[in-house]
Amino acid sequence: MLSKKIEKALNDQIRVEAESSQIYLAMACWAEVKGLEGVAGFMYSQSDEEREHMLKLVKFVNERGGHAHISELKAPNVTFKSFKEMFETLFEHEVFVSESINNLVHISLEEKDYATHNFLQWYVAEQIEEEAMARTILDKINMIGNDKGGLYLFDRDIEQITVSTAASDTLE
Ligand SMILES: [Fe+2]
Ligand SMILES: [Fe+2]
Repeated sequence: MLSKKIEKALNDQIRVEAESSQIYLAMACWAEVKGLEGVAGFMYSQSDEEREHMLKLVKFVNERGGHAHISELKAPNVTFKSFKEMFETLFEHEVFVSESINNLVHISLEEKDYATHNFLQWYVAEQIEEEAMARTILDKINMIGNDKGGLYLFDRDIEQITVSTAASDTLE
């Protein structure tokens, strides 16, 4: 059974994951209209992943005797000055999500809710991967700078970028 405090904190995270999905969907659209199919495909799949993160929380809350609340979402940015700015936003957003997960883990310990604490470890590992992925992409974008040819190759290859982290090695 979830305490009211944990239920509220999990519901807040449900909104964060739903907003993440919307943010990346907006990025996918911007990349698509700018003609970068690879970047668009990458962002569409990030958006799908965030929806899965949200659903996993929804089911957990409902299974543990709580009620997952589906709420209104903040509208995401729909345009960007550059791809660099877009990927900086993605990186900063993932850092924000990690902080949000850490805060949730902290509350689960305060509430002595070890089932929720255990459930959240998947998110802790996931955030290590997502931050590493965002950082790798940002490094590449910084290397490309304003080079059009570089951006073309980056767009072609982005969906193949995989990041192996210590967390992913122990997770699977
Ligand atoms: Fe997420
Ligand atoms: Fe994420």
